[in-house]
Amino acid sequence: MSFPDGFLWGAATAAHQIEGNNVHSDWWQAEQTGRLPHPSGSACDSWNRWRDDIRLLSEIGLNAYRLSIEWARVEPYAGRFDRVALDRYRAQLEALRRAGIEPLVTLHHFTNPRWLAERGGWSNPDVVPRFVEYAGRVIDQVKDLVRWWVTINEPSILAFKSYIEGAWPPQEPGNLRGYVRLLRHAARGHVRVSRLLRRARPDAMVSMAFAIWPLQALRPWSPIDQAMAFVGDWLWQGRVIRRTLPALDWIGLNYYSRTLVGWPRPSTTPPGSRERTDFGWEIYPEGLYAVLRRLGRFKKPVLITENGIADADDDQRPAYIVAHARQMQRAIEDGVDLRGYMHWSLLDNFEWAEGYEQHFGLATRDRVLRPSARLYGRIARANGAADDLLGTFSVT
Ligand code: FCB
Repeated sequence: MSFPDGFLWGAATAAHQIEGNNVHSDWWQAEQTGRLPHPSGSACDSWNRWRDDIRLLSEIGLNAYRLSIEWARVEPYAGRFDRVALDRYRAQLEALRRAGIEPLVTLHHFTNPRWLAERGGWSNPDVVPRFVEYAGRVIDQVKDLVRWWVTINEPSILAFKSYIEGAWPPQEPGNLRGYVRLLRHAARGHVRVSRLLRRARPDAMVSMAFAIWPLQALRPWSPIDQAMAFVGDWLWQGRVIRRTLPALDWIGLNYYSRTLVGWPRPSTTPPGSRERTDFGWEIYPEGLYAVLRRLGRFKKPVLITENGIADADDDQRPAYIVAHARQMQRAIEDGVDLRGYMHWSLLDNFEWAEGYEQHFGLATRDRVLRPSARLYGRIARANGAADDLLGTFSVT
């Protein structure tokens, strides 16, 4: 197995999940008032321990790191930007560059400043100019250090969790209007920030990170199930991509598994005995190939911005990594312009409404590397892998 020269092998994180004490954010507030079941607390303390994180990336042997910048830190009060926070992010990005690690920066990864949430958050059209202003400050601060940008992480998941399921702030289940508005404003915000970025840096590569869980018919023989999968896919996953396509320099893909849908009961539980992660997610590497081929049709570079597994005892992660790398290689051979892979995640971290119960890390919160990190590092350093290694972990 071998990958194109310059392939980016990295790990991904998000600010609220690792930095700790994100006190000006909507999540923090909901955690403190008991509206969310788990407090994030000091998380992995990466706000202070970011140098340790960089050392860990180097120790594994990675050449890229996807991190997010926290809006609630940069602009804790409306219109008031925090110089110390901006300088802290700049120092971190400089250190990554010095370590030979390419940074990919996400400007919005689920959390919002409290002041924004109090004004209706992403359902209020005013979020668009606000987001552009915040992004502009960040871009001014670090544009010379960052080429790869993700404007917004997984708008479809954020909209669903916030306004359909209601599990995440602002916790408004069944608010279809909020759902539609969030997606609309995210697309607009993306387009405007992508223009800013291109002006600031003509070689900037801008995308969103799209969560794509291929929807498949629970009973493949059923026309109803098939129709549900088709329409669901179109409504839920495809729309934001199509809406923002001209403003995407590349396509960021977060891939974890598939979703099976059917009537009368939409379901995520596939029949049969496929292996599952601690989270209960089915391990389905061939779906990665299918999605990559689908995205390949847009004729833009693709980069996997997240892929990983909740696996506390690390007995599944090695095979998971190898199996997904194989599917990546297949897609490249079949013409997909895949540029890199960011494993979710560097560290066990605050997994949103699940708190600290799910262990996605290549390392623990104490920054002890798991054996799978060594395996992943071998693949990254060799930009591929020899057959004997692949044989040991063959799962597909
Ligand atoms: C993705 C999120 C990321 C993490 C993983 C497990 O949907 O982008 O923050 O929670 O799932």
